[in-house]
Amino acid sequence: VYQQKQDDYELMAHISRFFQQQLKTAKDKETAIDYLKGRGLSGEVVKRFGIGYISDEWDGVMNTFSNNGQANQQLIDLGMAISGEKNRPYDRFRGRIMFPISDKRGRVIGFGGRVLGDAKPKYLNSPETRIYHKGQELYGLHEAKQANKQLTRLVVVEGYMDVVALAQHGVDYAVASLGTATTFEQLQTLFRTVPEVICCYDGDRAGRDAAWRAMENALPLIRDGFSLKFVFVPDGEDPDSLIRTQGQKAFETIIDNAMPLSKFLFEQLMQKVDMSSLEGRAALVESFQPYLAKLPDSILKDSMLNEIANNFGTGSEQFLAKLTKNIKASA
Ligand code: CTP
Ligand code: MN
Ligand code: MN
Ligand code: MN
Ligand code: MN
Repeated sequence: VYQQKQDDYELMAHISRFFQQQLKTAKDKETAIDYLKGRGLSGEVVKRFGIGYISDEWDGVMNTFSNNGQANQQLIDLGMAISGEKNRPYDRFRGRIMFPISDKRGRVIGFGGRVLGDAKPKYLNSPETRIYHKGQELYGLHEAKQANKQLTRLVVVEGYMDVVALAQHGVDYAVASLGTATTFEQLQTLFRTVPEVICCYDGDRAGRDAAWRAMENALPLIRDGFSLKFVFVPDGEDPDSLIRTQGQKAFETIIDNAMPLSKFLFEQLMQKVDMSSLEGRAALVESFQPYLAKLPDSILKDSMLNEIANNFGTGSEQFLAKLTKNIKASA
């Protein structure tokens, strides 16, 4: 089994090289190159991220990498081919720009593929395989580490193109959470790497929901010295479009002024209640409790408790004590 895993990584590395080579040799390579140029990417960045291409055919990978039943099965297991009912397996990725996903050791474990036009789905990703577990990986982390000897912060975005476009403009410390909301495991990896993580999701409903869920997932990890922050990009924009119009300097100013977790939490919870009534303010104090319960004991937590007691409670010692007791009980 160990041997097989070794082979898996080797095969994925070969396939990644094949996709990169196709960007130089495919009959329709110009279409792919024009697409990447159209998105503002230089050859240097395309190379740094190992971005490749596969033409719209059924057997590009199959013809190159399968020579017997065992190889077919491995390509299926790794998510690179799909087994037909009767026919022989065929390529999963067809007619797409290919983004290799590496683990933190730099081994290719999966791919994301983007169509060149408007076809659906826009992105196709590797399925879960024995070497690829999407909730645990971060696209671009290996590349960010390679580019930065001393990483001090990481920006988390939604998409492949966001990571690559940011790198193109000099922000070479972005990673993507690969589709779903940023998971606890991903946040754990992030905070093992840097003390400051800035979530910068798309300026739409999904992006704002993703920010809230990342906040919830991160709470147990926020000890003093670690911070999670949020940037809310304008509606209809994403980090890719933002940096292309604003440039590196403006983008980094936005990152520098990101909203800390505590402020995000306060603002969101305050929106849900009627702050002009005692009932609303009591409900607010109540609504804080499950979130504070998840925070490890810290100066930040004590400060937030004080803030709540002083601004939304009675400000008395008794009130603070009661609040603290409630939170301990619900933890
Ligand atoms: N995504 C996906 N499948 C889709 C759409 C999106 O897996 N059908 C994931 C991809 O990782 C994608 C990310 O969600 O990169 C963000 O999606 P979206 O904002 O819709 O895509 P963009 O990256 O902005 O796409 P574009 O290439 O058009 O900029
Ligand atoms: Mn595994
Ligand atoms: Mn989006
Ligand atoms: Mn987007
Ligand atoms: Mn985009």
